[in-house]
Amino acid sequence: VKAGPRRILVLNGPNLNLLGQREPEIYGRTTLAEVVARLEALGDELGVAVEHHQSNHEGELIDRVHEAMAEPVDGLLVNAGAYTHTSIALRDALLGAGLPFVEVHLSNLARREPFRHQSLLADAALGVVQGFGPLSYELGLRALVALLPPR
Ligand code: DQA
Repeated sequence: VKAGPRRILVLNGPNLNLLGQREPEIYGRTTLAEVVARLEALGDELGVAVEHHQSNHEGELIDRVHEAMAEPVDGLLVNAGAYTHTSIALRDALLGAGLPFVEVHLSNLARREPFRHQSLLADAALGVVQGFGPLSYELGLRALVALLPPR
């Protein structure tokens, strides 16, 4: 049986639905729909299927990670927004799922307020890409696909 393309879930957390309008001096003018469209096109190029889920709700993000275990998804590209800095529960979900993930941020957290300097996800991630605007997602997807274990 020939396996289908690998599946990547792009998970975006709170307020990322406002991309393009929200604090454009920090996050830029590109909308989330545009970011996702670019990732889908890049996915085609890399031979993976890209799915996307955005939620403003912590529990919904956790539920989506649990669904990803069952589906199964092969890896996740995660911008957890502010939950990056607060959510032990999302960290536990990602660790529990045991799926490889790359953490991405539009902004360079090291240049921002001290409360953004800690990520509760970073040490569980394959790696972190931050500070490059929408390009962070594209670089993150390339890295994730390159590092997926062979099957
Ligand atoms: C962000 C950085 C977070 O600190 C912030 O809460 C966000 C977006 C980023 O992509 O730069 O919502 O994850």
